[in-house]
Amino acid sequence: MDKFIVEGGYRLKGRVNLSGSKNAALPIMAATLLTDKECVLNNIPHLNDTLVMNKLVNILGGKVSFEGNTVRALNKTIKEFKAPYDLVKTMRASVYVMGALLGRYNKAEVAMPGGCIIGERPINLHLMGFEKLGAKIVIEHGYIKAKAKKLRGADIYLDTVSVGATANILMAGIYAQGQTIIRNAAQEPHIVDLCNFLNKLGARIKGQGTNTITLQGVTSLKGGTYNVISDYIEAGTFMVASAITNGKIELVNAPLDNIEAVKDNLIDTGSEVKRVKKNLLVKGLAKPRPSKIDTAPYPGFPTDMQAQWMALMSVAGGTSIVNETIWEKRFMHVPELNRMGADITTKGNTAVIKGVKGLSGAPVMVSDLRAGASLVLAGLRAKGTTEISRVYHLDRGYEKIEKKLEALGAKIRRFK
Ligand code: EPZ
Repeated sequence: MDKFIVEGGYRLKGRVNLSGSKNAALPIMAATLLTDKECVLNNIPHLNDTLVMNKLVNILGGKVSFEGNTVRALNKTIKEFKAPYDLVKTMRASVYVMGALLGRYNKAEVAMPGGCIIGERPINLHLMGFEKLGAKIVIEHGYIKAKAKKLRGADIYLDTVSVGATANILMAGIYAQGQTIIRNAAQEPHIVDLCNFLNKLGARIKGQGTNTITLQGVTSLKGGTYNVISDYIEAGTFMVASAITNGKIELVNAPLDNIEAVKDNLIDTGSEVKRVKKNLLVKGLAKPRPSKIDTAPYPGFPTDMQAQWMALMSVAGGTSIVNETIWEKRFMHVPELNRMGADITTKGNTAVIKGVKGLSGAPVMVSDLRAGASLVLAGLRAKGTTEISRVYHLDRGYEKIEKKLEALGAKIRRFK
């Protein structure tokens, strides 16, 4: 299993190009199953997760190629309607093919995704939405089977804001007769991107980016070429990399409208963040001020930036608080940060982070994607060498992270 060896203490400087958004690319790749015409998707990040989605669509009978950062999909006839356990267990976003298959063929079968390290991750809201559209759901032998004679538009309220349920219901409702309304919908930039992609193919979706999304069923979709948005979580991670190393990093073509929450908190804690044309320049400082954050659905502080933020607050000049409101078990990075000299205690979904003078390099282990990013950031700041194992988690969601950091002056190497 690959490892990263990070030698800390270097200030990062320079420009970084951001990759396409993983969490936009995954539902958009699944959504190509909704049309029999060719879709060309640009700016798809080359990651383990996007490779799994590529494989899954091909297993279902689609014809998808993935070269460089371009995916070409021509999913004329789908022969398989079952997303197998072997793939679903490696990537929960596989569940997105359910909405797409149900939407186009009125049937789908997906292995029941289990819980994962950050929480239980139920999909009851996805299934409730499918049922409201007219599907019958049966759970048998570890598989969820959805079937409908005909899907009809419905008024659907999500009692918890869910990215996955919003995306899945949208895909399932594309050809449903009449109007579908999703209330308390997720407003994340990746949901907006999925809607924009579907509209480009001829869907009739309105209200994306607000908490009420409306779609009018259509009878066919075209093909099209689409450029996926930049990854605002990758952007946030590099912003924190600049802050934590007292660096000066310019994010090229930054998703300026999507990173307000991280930007505001960085400014509040003393970093300088300014727009330079289409780029964003972030200047760190030796000792950030402490902060209090609560994670929340977009436009709140993203749970996917919580672990990285905690690395930064571990060297702040005072005590910080983090309340994790989305994922009940997303503190797996805490004991690892503490091994590096951080002083963090948790109780329930709250973490109290007492800023320490400095971190010291140590062997640490990655438990999940963003925890991995947090350990890399801590390693960049720490005195001495940090050996980070299980970096395959990082490879699921950060494209060439070590190469990008190296180009900014970090001493980080991958060992096979
Ligand atoms: C997406 O997961 C992201 N994954 C996650 O990113 C992200 O952390 C999460 O949204 C929240 O922003 C992808 O986009 C592929 P949810 P998703 O449904 O869709 C509860 C990363 O690091 N809920 O928005 O699975 C759920 O328990 C990953 O890139 C239900 O109760 O998340 C949670 O508390 C990790 N019932 C909350 O809603 C449901 O049916 C939000 O979950 C669905 C969700």
